Amino acid sequence: MPMIATEELTKIYRGAIKAVDQVTFEVEKGEIFGFLGPNGAGKTTTIKVLTTLLRPTAGRAEVAGYDVERLPREVRDRIGYVGQNIGVDELATGRENLSLYGHLYRLDSKTIRSRVEHLLALVDLTGQEDRLIKTYSGGMRKRLDIAMGLIHHPQVLFLDEPTVGLDPQTRAHIWDYIRALRTEQGITIFLTTHYMDEADHLVDRIAIIDYGRIVALGTPAKLKSEISGDVVTLSLAVDRPDELDSAIQQTCALIADQPFIRQLQRRDSDLNVYVDNGEYAIPLLMRSLEGKGIVVRSISLARPSLDDVFLKHTGHTIRDEEGQPTSWAQMLRDSRRRQH
Ligand SMILES: Nc1ncnc2c1ncn2[C@@H]1O[C@H](COP(=O)(O)OP(=O)(O)OP(=O)(O)O)[C@@H](O)[C@H]1O
Ligand SMILES: [Mg+2]
Repeated sequence: MPMIATEELTKIYRGAIKAVDQVTFEVEKGEIFGFLGPNGAGKTTTIKVLTTLLRPTAGRAEVAGYDVERLPREVRDRIGYVGQNIGVDELATGRENLSLYGHLYRLDSKTIRSRVEHLLALVDLTGQEDRLIKTYSGGMRKRLDIAMGLIHHPQVLFLDEPTVGLDPQTRAHIWDYIRALRTEQGITIFLTTHYMDEADHLVDRIAIIDYGRIVALGTPAKLKSEISGDVVTLSLAVDRPDELDSAIQQTCALIADQPFIRQLQRRDSDLNVYVDNGEYAIPLLMRSLEGKGIVVRSISLARPSLDDVFLKHTGHTIRDEEGQPTSWAQMLRDSRRRQH
């Protein structure tokens, strides 16, 4: 039995914002599963539906074997939820916050005492439990948040952006704690992130979500392997920043007809050229641009990353705050496709 199963799950907010759009996936017991997507993609909304805080508009979701709409109490008893902005009491200690959560779940005092000790040890806060939260660092708070989500021994833990805003070292520590939950306690973990490295290093499988839809799903390795070949990144030299758009456009027009090019995609101020064999393609690319007034500042060759996977499936980078597709490069490709 999967621990989480959804079928065409949809959430439309009043005002007709389709935040989650026919999302279907399953998460197995003991798996660390991630939703990777930009701001506004629908990650928190999905978590809120799965944790019974919001009702779905259409479709179905089961958590720990129970339907979230029909049996929300059964679901709530079996899950922990660490939200994006968790409500800890700044003027209470770590121990007091944890105990309060235990009481909210109606655990008896003896159970609470023993679980609090155990959880403090689990997230490495033993010795810090009697300090006020307002004196905790960001990483300590996050560890306490995770411990709070675990007080009632849930089978599934939902973590909404567990490492947002933390420095790289602290983030790596949080990853270790999350991994330990899975190996030591067999807890199934569903997390959301907009960090590529988190998706790449922490999760077993990821779903890439954009505008409420899952556009790709699989292990990070599998998703990367689906982009076979190499990525050649061209960085152009221009005199003035406002000349960059037309330089990139001109470059696309000059190289688009080369048979070895699979796809052209702008990434920020660079142009990504997806090819079968980079070493073969680079000299041919340089030759096509020679004497055409295009100055290449740098050219680099790499294997596809999750960034490339994201770009391929969504047409934009995750950092692209506006979520605007770099449509002209895509249009160029589409028009070529239609000719074939
Ligand atoms: N209560 C609400 N009422 C109306 N629209 C909402 C509400 N909550 C979220 N939305 C909209 O639904 C869409 C998805 O939002 P959601 O918070 O699920 O995204 P997210 O992927 O968690 O983003 P972020 O990375 O910023 O946390 C957005 O367009 C958002 O503006
Ligand atoms: Mg969110």
